[in-house]
Amino acid sequence: MLANVKIQDFLLPSLLGVDRFLLMRVQKTVIATAHNITYLEVPQYGDPRRDAYLACHYVKERGDPALHSVKWYRDNNEIFRYMPGQQPSTRTFNTTGGVTRGTCDENKCSISVALPKRFNTRISFTCEVSTEGPRFEVVNQTKYLTVAVTLKEDPVISGLPGSVQVGEDVLLNCSTGPAMPPANIIWYIDGRPEKMEQWMSMNDHTEVSTADDYGLRSSWRPLRFRVTTVRAAISLTCEATQPTRPSFTRSTNLTLAVARSPHLSMFTASGSNPSSFTAATVVASMLVHTLSKYSALSDK
Ligand SMILES: *[C@@H]1O[C@H](CO)[C@@H](O)[C@H](O)[C@H]1NC(C)=O
Ligand SMILES: *[C@@H]1O[C@H](CO)[C@@H](O)[C@H](O)[C@H]1NC(C)=O
Ligand SMILES: *[C@@H]1O[C@H](CO)[C@@H](O)[C@H](O)[C@H]1NC(C)=O
Ligand SMILES: *[C@@H]1O[C@H](CO)[C@@H](O)[C@H](O)[C@H]1NC(C)=O
Ligand SMILES: *[C@@H]1O[C@H](CO)[C@@H](O)[C@H](O)[C@H]1NC(C)=O
Repeated sequence: MLANVKIQDFLLPSLLGVDRFLLMRVQKTVIATAHNITYLEVPQYGDPRRDAYLACHYVKERGDPALHSVKWYRDNNEIFRYMPGQQPSTRTFNTTGGVTRGTCDENKCSISVALPKRFNTRISFTCEVSTEGPRFEVVNQTKYLTVAVTLKEDPVISGLPGSVQVGEDVLLNCSTGPAMPPANIIWYIDGRPEKMEQWMSMNDHTEVSTADDYGLRSSWRPLRFRVTTVRAAISLTCEATQPTRPSFTRSTNLTLAVARSPHLSMFTASGSNPSSFTAATVVASMLVHTLSKYSALSDK
């Protein structure tokens, strides 16, 4: 959608004084688009409990004709149109398109859209911008939104023991907040997925709660293992993945220090957020008690 446009001679006022003008002769060929769509704002996941906010950002470049129209499509059906030259300038199409609001100007056209309650539905949104004749150049851009309530926090590991030592059985529990679709949980011990041992009687699947008022479900998965390592620490990861398209994962890491003698241990935990790279640190208040308890014992 490229057009060759000749920029004619024109006058530019000098910035140095009101009574002086600078005559610029510009006689060159530049490449102009219909208007450049600089950014299409469509969230990757949309919570059906509220409207999704979408925005199409575009710029008029030198040599571009004026804006003719901006159109929004939902799965290839036109749902909204902005034509600055018309009265009224905006129109909403197809009442099932779900547009609840629209605000547009020369640089941006944003709409709010209601989403279906069918989780994991993937919807395409296209913004199409065209400029005035005689060419009516058209550009468009498409992005996808998946209906899902993603995990707002990293999974939480509970049941952290005050001390672990070789030969001891440890029972932990990893749980998530409400989400939809519910997350599948996988535990990793020293980087390897948990594997079932004969003596383990615990379930080896993610458990899922019943749906809450909004249809959301929490997940949890216990982990039981025997401390066999001769190393000083065991690293554990609880990874919660929602089977959306694309999938959404949050995880929590934890390092369990293996006590020799006396029974001293400590732990730290950190979380990961795939989109923002933030890490949270869990402060182990239990550590203080553990240390004081066992230092008291060893004083005997
Ligand atoms: C559109 O704008 C973006 C960002 O400013 C720029 O990277 C891109 O080259 C532009 N595209 C065209 C065709 O002018
Ligand atoms: C309205 O939109 C829905 C969903 O996007 C589509 O299935 C339907 O065919 C559209 N109807 C019309 C009249 O365009
Ligand atoms: C977007 O533009 C492409 C060509 O560049 C065209 O094939 C397609 O149909 C357009 N999509 C919409 C929704 O207008
Ligand atoms: C794990 O946590 C979940 C959610 O808090 C709870 O319902 C479940 O009973 C716990 N399981 C174990 C074995 O502690
Ligand atoms: C958690 O541990 C895994 C491997 O054990 C590592 O790849 C990942 O970067 C760690 N994440 C954080 C937030 O420390």
